[in-house]
Amino acid sequence: MRFIETWTPATLVATRDLSPAIREFLIKPDDFNGAAYPVGSHINVAVTINGQPETRSYSLVGEVDARGLKIAVRRAEDSRGGSRYMWQLAPGARLEITQPASLVSVDWARGHYCLIAGGIGITPIVGAAQALARRGASFTLHYAVRSRSDAAYLDELAALLGDRLVVHASDAGERLDLDALFASLPKETLALFCGPMRMLDAARHAWIGAGHPLPDLRYETFGSSGSLPTETFRVRLKGTDLEFEIPRERSMLDVLNAAGHEVMYDCKRGECGLCAIDVVAVDGEIDHRDVFFSDHQKHENTKICACVSRARGTITVDTLHRADAV
Ligand code: FES
Repeated sequence: MRFIETWTPATLVATRDLSPAIREFLIKPDDFNGAAYPVGSHINVAVTINGQPETRSYSLVGEVDARGLKIAVRRAEDSRGGSRYMWQLAPGARLEITQPASLVSVDWARGHYCLIAGGIGITPIVGAAQALARRGASFTLHYAVRSRSDAAYLDELAALLGDRLVVHASDAGERLDLDALFASLPKETLALFCGPMRMLDAARHAWIGAGHPLPDLRYETFGSSGSLPTETFRVRLKGTDLEFEIPRERSMLDVLNAAGHEVMYDCKRGECGLCAIDVVAVDGEIDHRDVFFSDHQKHENTKICACVSRARGTITVDTLHRADAV
């Protein structure tokens, strides 16, 4: 059950390999009018995984481009299948996508900005860097990558930002020290972060540790990154004999909704919290992959964001849906 979702047909116009594992996709909606979209916008793309319709959410890269909408996808063999689907597409392929939408708000009147990207998390940060550069704002982009050869958009960013771009390549021993970075920032700094969940956890702790207000750290992450490997797990429904297997390539939300359990959702990115359902027992371990719950709430394990979070073993949940009450 979803509130607002407007899908539009589109064509994959071109692809470009940015690194051996990252491919850019230029997608033109049939009704494309070149309208600007907010920083941090993403689109959903309808994909087919093991014959099942699914959706995947991708950040738009950069500010609006007259040729269409750009996304970049890292091919991840251990992922839930979205990247494999995207990588087999060839120019000319027809797609269904949603309109650009952003859940990140940016206050453009700050004295200083700090952009932090981890790996493929650079995708929404490119547009933020372009917008800040265009406004003449004071900012630095810290880009953490495994190696420079694996980093997307490095040349474009270097040309745009010069010494406002700092690359931290771990294979060159240039690890990003978030504690030192955040301690060095003026107090009015607004930070925009996108990276994997573990890096976000570290960023949140370092941000608070440096005495900055948590709302001044705005972030996005991607639901495919967790602290446990993506594997099949089982979900039991409280008070019933029903038990579902959640395969690697599907979310708990999609499995429950396909079975008629009417779990509400909106973002499908672990950001809005609408899909949260009650957990009544855990036989194994929950891998919270959302950015909605606090560390404390995640530790309590009494709720789970069904769209992105996963588990090892079996969990028992209460969806509050009662078939006989309808
Ligand atoms: S649908 Fe938004 S957090 Fe799950």
